[in-house]
Amino acid sequence: MVKKLKIVFISSEVSPFSKTGGLADVSRSLPKSLKRLGQDVLVITPLYGMVIDKAAHNLELVYENVDLYINSKDIVPVNYWRGYLMPGLPVYFIENKKYFSRRKSLYGSTHENARWMVFDVAALKLISLLKYKAHIVHCHDRQTGLVPYYLKTKFQYSKTLENAKSIFTIHNLVFQMGMNWWEVPLKKKDYGRSRLPHLEDKSLEYINFAKRAILSADAISTVSEQYREEIMTPNFGQDLHRILKNREDRLFGIVNGIDYKSYNPYNDPGLFKNYDYRTVRRKKLNKEYLQKKLKLTVDREMPIIGLTSRVTFQKGFELVCQILEPLLELGLEIVIMGDGDKQYIQALKKYHNKYKNKIVWLPFNDNQKLETMIYAAADIFLLPSHHEPCGINQLIAMRYGCIPVVRRVGGLTDTVTNFDNFTGEGTGFSFNDFDAFSLFGAIIRALEHYKNRKAWRDLMVRVMQESNSWKIPAQKYIALYQKAMRINNNKKNKK
Ligand code: GLC
Repeated sequence: MVKKLKIVFISSEVSPFSKTGGLADVSRSLPKSLKRLGQDVLVITPLYGMVIDKAAHNLELVYENVDLYINSKDIVPVNYWRGYLMPGLPVYFIENKKYFSRRKSLYGSTHENARWMVFDVAALKLISLLKYKAHIVHCHDRQTGLVPYYLKTKFQYSKTLENAKSIFTIHNLVFQMGMNWWEVPLKKKDYGRSRLPHLEDKSLEYINFAKRAILSADAISTVSEQYREEIMTPNFGQDLHRILKNREDRLFGIVNGIDYKSYNPYNDPGLFKNYDYRTVRRKKLNKEYLQKKLKLTVDREMPIIGLTSRVTFQKGFELVCQILEPLLELGLEIVIMGDGDKQYIQALKKYHNKYKNKIVWLPFNDNQKLETMIYAAADIFLLPSHHEPCGINQLIAMRYGCIPVVRRVGGLTDTVTNFDNFTGEGTGFSFNDFDAFSLFGAIIRALEHYKNRKAWRDLMVRVMQESNSWKIPAQKYIALYQKAMRINNNKKNKK
């Protein structure tokens, strides 16, 4: 068994360079944890010209004007830049004017598939240029979906990559390609085996990157055990449940962690008052501070509910908006931070106009300070997701003693256990059905419990001591890499 693995990590967003969601956190923290566990890791990601400041991140140019032979017709030039996530852990950036530099946002172009096809070839080409004889190429979500496919086709004879095994991690199965998979006309549906179209060919936009990855990867993983089970069913499988079920023996679930160093209420510089589970009473001072700052009614005893997810259907805003008014009548305060769908944000603004000192909505701010300040000030964290591959914010909230109220779905099932009044066990309040009534019921249970000060403090203390760092998940990934290397070797022996 190889002890020190060479791992290439390919991701479309890596914090602190670029971020739209949890994927960026995983792409930052998991490579670091792997490195700390003695593995050799490098990360590859795009250079979004208008998002990533080369000078601020000290990026250096390593290869200039490299021609990528995407296919017989398309030759695309790229540059490669290098920065570091930590000493000894390089991040390589792929630069190309047309596909990445001129863009203000990470995604959302009408030629998404063309962009990511270029990226995927560029990533594989870089590994060859570096002569990095990787054991594992670990890809994330649809943007990197052609990498496992290319490893079995176009790049199968590459000297550097011939022994590399690919892992494809699903962070959200809804996203399979540039366009919505359900908008692809039936006749144009990608069955996953045909030759890839040229860059300018419109039919390229119908290629299903996630499907190709699932069909080609040596192992597939997703970000919680429960979501692994769910995506093999028609309800959650987003039309790919059959192929996932067929590859069940190669499909694994590993729950995400959070970076325990950067999310620690004991020394978080963003808080008004630092605390840990021994001094949790100081949380109230953070509450007062935030109430003043956001012009809410200042009252230490008033429960605050915090929400810090994207304001979308997935995150349960369909339900939240239905119960906001009766909730606000109960005598509590609500703080919401996140961007998302206009219809929900407009509704939130409307409630703010009506209940000025009771509810605020703040746009997403990449500055971690305000986010953790909300966890430090709030009593209850709400995440009533429709589907949730893992969910990261409930883990951060728990570390700050902010008790989660969640729907029992995906990773929320794995990370939050429902509080049981009789045994006194549990780490939050959860409900089953995706309807506003069930959500309301769960919040009421939490609020009732909140009234009993001692019981609530005991709950906070217990929840803050839960262990959700990356250490164990990173070890599980290493075991998965080792397994992926074995799965294929066995196959070879049989031949
Ligand atoms: C996606 C999922 C979320 C998960 C994150 C990181 O954003 O929606 O549940 O936590 O990826 O894996």
